[in-house]
Amino acid sequence: MRLFLILLGLGARFCSTLVYSTFVDSDTDEAAAKKYASEGFEIVFSDEFNTPDRQFKDGDDPTWTALDKNDYTNAALHYYKDTAISTSDGMMKIKTDFGVNTFKAKNEKTGAFTRKNKYYTSGQVQTWNKFCFTGGIIEVSASPPGHPSIGGLWPAIWMMGNLARATYVGSSDWMWPWSYDECEEKNQESQLISKCAVNPHFDLLSHSGRGAPEIDIFEGMAGPSEKLPNTKIKKPYFSTSLQVSPGVQNPRPVLTHKPLDGKWYEGMSYGTNSSLNNFFYGVQLKHTPEQYTYQSDAISANTAIEPKEYSRQHVFKVDWRPNDSITWYLDDVFLYKISQPNLNITGSKIPDEPMYLILNTAISSTWGFPTKTDSCKCTSYDCSDPSCTCAFPTGFCDNIPSSFDVDWVRIYQHSEAINLGCSTKDKPTRKYIQGNEEKFKRPEDDVPIKSVRRGGGDCDVDGECGGGGKCDNGGCVCGEGYTGPMCLAEDKEYPGGTFLDETDETIEVEGVHLPAIFLGVMFLLVVVLVAACCKRVTERRERMGRYEYIKVGETEGYKSGGRYDRASSNRV
Ligand SMILES: *[C@@H]1O[C@H](CO)[C@@H](O)[C@H](O)[C@H]1NC(C)=O
Ligand SMILES: *[C@@H]1O[C@H](CO)[C@@H](O)[C@H](O)[C@H]1NC(C)=O
Ligand SMILES: *[C@@H]1O[C@H](CO)[C@@H](O)[C@H](O)[C@H]1NC(C)=O
Repeated sequence: MRLFLILLGLGARFCSTLVYSTFVDSDTDEAAAKKYASEGFEIVFSDEFNTPDRQFKDGDDPTWTALDKNDYTNAALHYYKDTAISTSDGMMKIKTDFGVNTFKAKNEKTGAFTRKNKYYTSGQVQTWNKFCFTGGIIEVSASPPGHPSIGGLWPAIWMMGNLARATYVGSSDWMWPWSYDECEEKNQESQLISKCAVNPHFDLLSHSGRGAPEIDIFEGMAGPSEKLPNTKIKKPYFSTSLQVSPGVQNPRPVLTHKPLDGKWYEGMSYGTNSSLNNFFYGVQLKHTPEQYTYQSDAISANTAIEPKEYSRQHVFKVDWRPNDSITWYLDDVFLYKISQPNLNITGSKIPDEPMYLILNTAISSTWGFPTKTDSCKCTSYDCSDPSCTCAFPTGFCDNIPSSFDVDWVRIYQHSEAINLGCSTKDKPTRKYIQGNEEKFKRPEDDVPIKSVRRGGGDCDVDGECGGGGKCDNGGCVCGEGYTGPMCLAEDKEYPGGTFLDETDETIEVEGVHLPAIFLGVMFLLVVVLVAACCKRVTERRERMGRYEYIKVGETEGYKSGGRYDRASSNRV
């Protein structure tokens, strides 16, 4: 029987590698699916956004979750609403608009909570803990929002390791953007899951340094075309970056200046219209005591783009080869490449963590905004507040509402390197997330993300329910292959045998039956070993296992967010 189960498991794995991935949109045409076939790549994910009126609220979609929360990172001036995300005209639209949103902010001095307003509503969708991949070619066709010569909107297409959830600041402390697999005394406290750790909790592997590195595929910087310091790049431009820790220690490059020879990452390649981003080198994530503080680095390039080209659909592409290289392209034209040897100054790695996708438009006083002078009394950043005229980039208030239109997203992997899943055998994340749910959810949520609701959405006639679904007693009933309250989303799931740790575990449990007495003895042994652990391990576990960030996401101001504070070229 046991042998049969093992064979069944192996058989299922073998067969599934022959089956077309179920994360591929049925609307993706043959030519797109086979774009890299001659190089041995197959399509493993796509979303064409052809179905109108799809919903992305928590629990609506098997691939994407739209956030509904305040953004506490990077001096954000917007509030994310799930209603800002929609599909129409064959695209996903991320709308930025006016809208008063009240949130709780903590005064760091008094500890008291006060209500504060934000005056812009925007959107962010992420595939966090739903769809992740390790390596491959990712292509996103999108047109940035707003006018190319007006600054202040910050559209972004990016990826982050699944161990941190973007904008949930508690999840990124000591996790973002580590990409380091060396055991070193000086980093042991600041890298939460250090290679030095033996038998860490949550099924994490021994001697396996982990983190949540960031790859930025596109970050748009619109604005007037004027000379910027120490670069040939003018606005509008966009940034393409790898963000990793540990970072370069002193001397750090001075903002707007080029790094000193031998004191920064070297050997990267740049395309004709791209050059080193001298406006952002990373941030220091300050913590007390001192050994918890660490530096993140942004190894970043800027690419100038013609104003008339800025707001059109373009294909932003990254070829990510874990442990090896990352190459960025615009409409298949080379922009920038970082290879593993270029990171030798710190020894960080070209990421090999399972990563998820993020699409959003932010508004931040650190992105394309003018430096606020002492005479500028604006605090609200409200377009209807006359005292704020001095605080905005020229034309900012007329640039809203605007829409970031994403036509499609496609991902390809080499057929011999198919590696899908947010928690893989080599890089498990599932139990860590389960054991630290508080860090990944809003305080009022029961769970970080709800399971997808299949049918049940309000309807009057069959036609309102997608995928040939029926309207039964005022509620949609989905046909096969469709899900979501209105059955408008194709049901997505990983093909079996894609190294999901869940699959592996099932096979193990089915295949290996250990006697209960043996398990009991092992358990006691573990208890004794744990009890014998030194103080440092206890401290570490407390940081990892319990929520000492009780007010996760409730504190305003600078935070080691999924993103970072950074100076824009205007702040020179
Ligand atoms: C560089 O920019 C110029 C001016 O916008 C454009 O004509 C040219 O095609 C670009 N070159 C590449 C390689 O993208
Ligand atoms: C990257 O290298 C590490 C060893 O440093 C290896 O364990 C891992 O499997 C590699 N990952 C990939 C995706 O090649
Ligand atoms: C690090 O790599 C660069 C090329 O990326 C090379 O020029 C340099 O010599 C290397 N340094 C060391 C210490 O290996």
